[in-house]
This record gives sequence, structure tokens and C-alpha cells, in this order.
Amino acid sequence: AMIGKGGHRHFMAKEIFEQPQVIGDTLNAMFNPAERTITLPDLPFDLGAVPRITMIACGTASLAGLVGKYWIERFAGVAVDWDLASEFRYRAPVMAEGGLAVFISQSGETADTLAALRYCKQQGQHCLAIVNAPESSIAREADAVLPTLAGPEIGVASTKAFTTQLVVLACLAIALGRARGTMDRETEARLSGTLTEVPSRAAEVLNHDGRIKALAEETITPARDVLYLGRGTSYPLALEGALKLKEISYIHAEGYAAGEMKHGPIALIDDSVPVVVIAPSDDLFDKTASNVQEVVARGGKAVVFSDAAGVARLKDLALEAIALPAVDPFVAPILYAIPVQLLAYHTAVDKGTDVDQPRNLAKAVTVE
Ligand code: G6P
Repeated sequence: AMIGKGGHRHFMAKEIFEQPQVIGDTLNAMFNPAERTITLPDLPFDLGAVPRITMIACGTASLAGLVGKYWIERFAGVAVDWDLASEFRYRAPVMAEGGLAVFISQSGETADTLAALRYCKQQGQHCLAIVNAPESSIAREADAVLPTLAGPEIGVASTKAFTTQLVVLACLAIALGRARGTMDRETEARLSGTLTEVPSRAAEVLNHDGRIKALAEETITPARDVLYLGRGTSYPLALEGALKLKEISYIHAEGYAAGEMKHGPIALIDDSVPVVVIAPSDDLFDKTASNVQEVVARGGKAVVFSDAAGVARLKDLALEAIALPAVDPFVAPILYAIPVQLLAYHTAVDKGTDVDQPRNLAKAVTVE
């Protein structure tokens, strides 16, 4: 059937606004409400016996994988290697016997990711695909598939595929923790409970659309360079925010681990460089808050995405501080994806670029 824009000006906007729904759909396929447990589809290998995991993808999907690495190491206690498919495939990587390789891809057709999968099969890895296209090459060639139920994604810049990839990876982290005996029932119930709140929290985040549009037009559109900072699971979100902005608005942007700021990007900060800070209230908040101070001390314009408690701490320093709903830090990366998508979207619309079909980019990169 023909897919329309559902009253939105661009597919990208439609897809951003579909997120509460598709996040819920993806989670519901794995969440058991009576038991408050996560059930993955049957896998042809023992998840609990996996000695090591390798996470491989390209582009936005790779950044979902980086969040997945943080979650799995923290909640399941398994070592996770993370790689870009284009680096991995040409490096002769050394892999643990019986390891698990996870391939994340919206299209399931990205050439580098597919080549990496074939290499991993030769290396005797169990190959698990997290894909949005169930009939794709990556889905067919993997040993098992965990689907993202995002529905067709038309905008070249990935949005709802990313947040549904995060949902699947969060469920995988929980399932791994249980299979390995490193996560007790209570923790599983608590973490999966926080996931069930994400669709309604995501809808609340979308209510900030107008304010984020104004912020984009006043602060981001005029900028030549934009820096994004985050720590812990907010670090991949900073990378994703910068990637989205580059892709569709053509403004140069860099995502940086907040703690690395003093090792380079701080030299660039002046009153012409907006610094977007992803800072949910979590155990790293204080450290990120001191980075905000350092930015402001150098005349930088800090734009903060946090929750009410974080905004209360930073609003006097920041040029703009937007309070998103307070959530368990576990699910924060899923929610904080939305404001960075909206910021890039509104900047691109304001600049008049071709938002759904940005120059030089393709939806699926099926050649090297
Ligand atoms: C292209 C798209 C990106 C996407 C990347 C990986 O560069 O423009 O939005 O993140 O490919 O694609 P995949 O289909 O493997 O997720």
C-alpha cells in the first residue's frame, strides 16, 4: 500500500511522532505483563552460555549498538565488543569460541554489515540480527532474528528504527541477565516495568516539539558548528544527535563523550558554538554538570536536555534547558533520542534542506 505522510510535512516528522506507538508494539512482542518478564523468541543457542558478545552495525544502528553495549555489560555482566561493520570486516578480528555476534540494521541490506555477518558465521559465532525488514538478506542469513516493529521507515535519517532497536537491545540485556543468572526476578520486573512506561513518556516528550522548534531556529540554524556532549549511555546519544544534525541540516556537528571535552573540543568553544548537553538525572549527572560550567565559563552557549531536577540545577547557567519527564536512567536513552531528532528536524526545515532525501545519502547502502 502507498504510505502517506499522515498529515505531516515530511516522512521524518511522521516517523518521529509514531515513536510512542512503535516503541510499544516492539516491546509488547517481548513483554509478559502478568509475570513482568521479557521473553525473546526461541533461539537456536544457549544465551546463558555466551562467553562474549560482538555488536556490529553502521550509522545510526551502530549507535543503538553502543547503548546496547553499556546496558549488557552493566545488567548482564557479559563483555561486549562494539564495532563499525566497515572496520570490522577488513580487520581479521579475533573472536571468542561460541560467541554471540549481534547485527543491527534497519534495512537488513547494508553491504558492510552483511559482509561482517558472513565473516562471523565463518568464525563459528552465533549470529543474531536486529532488523526492521524481516525479509532482508541480514534477517535470512542470521541464525535468529529479533524484529524491530517500527514499520516502514522512509526518511533517510533513521528515527523510529533507532528507538525500536534500543527497545530490543534493552530486552536482550534483560534476557541475557536472566539466562546467565546475573539478574534476579525483582530487577527484571523493575527494569521491564520501566520499559512499559516509555510509550507514554515518549508522547510527553513530543509535547516539547514547539519549544524545540524555537530553539532550533534561534540557536542551531545560525550556527556553523555544534557540539553534542553526553556521558555513559548519553554518550551514544550525543553521537546520534550530531549525526542527525549533519545528515539533514548540513551543519557541522560533533558528538563527544563529555569527559573528553577537555582533550580537544574545549579549544573550539566560544559564543558562536552551541553545545547541546544530554544530561538525564543519573549517577553521572554531577560530572556532566561540571562540563556545562566549563562550557559556560568559556562563553559557550549550553543547551541542556534533562529532567526537572537537572534543569533546576542548570537553568541559570544554560542558554536554554528543557525538562523532559523524569525516568529511570535505564530507559533514558530511548527518550532522549526524541529531542535530538526534533532539534535536527526543525533546523533542517528552517534551513530549507531536503529533509527526507538529504543530498549524497541513501536509505540503504548496499554497495561498499
Ligand atoms: C544509511 C542511512 C542511515 C542508517 C545507515 C545504516 O547511512 O542513511 O540512516 O543508519 O545507513 O543502515 P541500516 O539499514 O543498516 O540500519
